[in-house]
Amino acid sequence: MDSLKIIGGQPLSGEIPISGAKNSALKLMAACLLTAEPVTLTNMPNLADTRFLSQLLQTLGVEVYWPKGDSECRLNAENLTSTIAPYEQVRKMRASFNVLGPMLARYGHATVSLPGGCAIGARPVDLHLQAFEAMGADLLVEQGYVKAAAIHGLKGAQIVFPFVSVGATEHAMLAATLAKGETVLENAAREPEIADLADCLISMGAKIEGAGSSTITIQGVDELHGTHHKVMSDRIEAGTYAMAVAAAGGHVTLTNAPVGALSAINHALRNAGVKVEADKDAGTIEIETTGQPLTAVNVDTAPHPGFPTDLQAQFMALMSVARGTSIIRENIFENRFMHAPELSRLGANIAVRGSEAIVTGVEKLKGAPVMATDLRASVSLVIAGLAAQGETTVSRIYHLDRGFERLEEKLSAVGANIRRTRDEDEG
Ligand code: UD1
Repeated sequence: MDSLKIIGGQPLSGEIPISGAKNSALKLMAACLLTAEPVTLTNMPNLADTRFLSQLLQTLGVEVYWPKGDSECRLNAENLTSTIAPYEQVRKMRASFNVLGPMLARYGHATVSLPGGCAIGARPVDLHLQAFEAMGADLLVEQGYVKAAAIHGLKGAQIVFPFVSVGATEHAMLAATLAKGETVLENAAREPEIADLADCLISMGAKIEGAGSSTITIQGVDELHGTHHKVMSDRIEAGTYAMAVAAAGGHVTLTNAPVGALSAINHALRNAGVKVEADKDAGTIEIETTGQPLTAVNVDTAPHPGFPTDLQAQFMALMSVARGTSIIRENIFENRFMHAPELSRLGANIAVRGSEAIVTGVEKLKGAPVMATDLRASVSLVIAGLAAQGETTVSRIYHLDRGFERLEEKLSAVGANIRRTRDEDEG
């Protein structure tokens, strides 16, 4: 297993290019199952998760042309050989579950393993299943699999989500594109990735209005066609690098950045005393520290346009070196503070009480060996390591490789002392 070795204390300066958004790419890839024509995605991030979904799609019979390292991926689902997504593949990455809706909508049946829990919480898929049932699907959950059938096709439905779910909104939207009649999704998630998915589906011939707002209306069509679509840039990656610069100090321009999607993050950073200059037309965000200590800021995670849960761990790392006490509330997932004890190993002062972490800033963190527990938690340890004095080793970074493209290369290019090593002693 690989580790990252970081010698902290180097200010960062230069440019960091932001990659395509993992969370968008995964749903866009699933969309290829809705059509017999090729779907070409550009600005594709080369990540363990996107490569992994590409393998699952190939298992289903999708032809995938995506040379290693290439940012363009061509998917052709003309001849599916199976509509069964096996446990061995779905359990490794939850977003694989999103192949269910498109296959059900196009073929009238699909069998997909339940994804199971994950490190950050139970993460059920009940809202996804309720949406398909409302669209007339018969569902049977047996031996860990969801067997879904809609022999005469899915029907449009009025679906009111009891709470906001990104995955359920996207999944229902995917399926509704080929349902008969109108589907209205109420209390829909408003994450920018949902608008990106809708834009792609519209370019395939889908009729969708309101994506990005809490009411999405979809008029089903008989079939969809192929398309070329550019994956939006990754707002979580951009926010992560912004926080890395804020923690380590320096002056960095993020390029190819999804400027409009970062308001809550830019707001929190400015409150902490970081200079943030966003240029929407140029797609750049300049991050600059002032040399003064950061100010403690409270944040509450919330569905978009609130502060994203996927940046909570990174912000906690930043607040570990701010002056004063900040309260960080996690409102989306029940078990998302596993990075707190690891940050404490670097000298952070964090007390966790239920869904609240109370972070009292310290003057300096000190390098130590730490262990990654999930994707965003692992990058929070990298941020802390960049700010800390001395050497930090982050082990189990396969979590990090799931969602950050060429992380050590991008950080080294702006002056960070970070390198990948292979652990001999971990099983
Ligand atoms: C997506 C993102 C993830 C992000 C999350 C919240 C992808 C691949 N992942 O995950 O990075 O952290 O949005 O912004 O896009 N829930 C249920 N029943 C359901 C569905 C969800 O109870 O059927 C709960 C979840 O356990 C969680 C909350 O609803 O507590 C929000 O989850 P959701 O928005 O669905 O997150 P994901 O789509 O899984």
